[in-house]
Amino acid sequence: MKKIVVLHGVNLNMFGKRDPDQYGTITLKEIDQKIEQLALELGVTVECFQTNHEGEMVEKVHQVHYNNVDGVIINAGAWTHYSYAIMDALGILKIPIVEVHMSHVHAREPFRHISVIAPVAKGQITGFGVNSYLLGLRALVGLIF
Ligand code: DQA
Repeated sequence: MKKIVVLHGVNLNMFGKRDPDQYGTITLKEIDQKIEQLALELGVTVECFQTNHEGEMVEKVHQVHYNNVDGVIINAGAWTHYSYAIMDALGILKIPIVEVHMSHVHAREPFRHISVIAPVAKGQITGFGVNSYLLGLRALVGLIF
């Protein structure tokens, strides 16, 4: 079975509590449940991971490299906009990466319009709430089968 890893970055454990105008009230646990349910329907296995520590995220990406993973979905949170360390780590991977965001980053503050991760991703899905993740999963499955 194909294996997909979903990486959630900094502050995303606070979905459900933080800025509901941007992110709604869905919690990260509920997001992960919806991802797992769709993965089951699509016939892939999925592992969801969240951290608030940049080095821990980099090490998780290194583990992805060593562990026969077929694709990655990442919402790097604010790291999206400035973490060359996470971009470099993702750049090591030879598998497809899909970047997702709950909010419509291009309709928000100018600093959110920049993604340093985008150059190493196959594409970006932004602005559809939890559906950004679900569309990202469908897109990734389309790329790996
Ligand atoms: C986010 C958008 C980022 O700009 C922000 O820093 C986040 C969440 C999103 O999912 O919309 O933490 O990645």
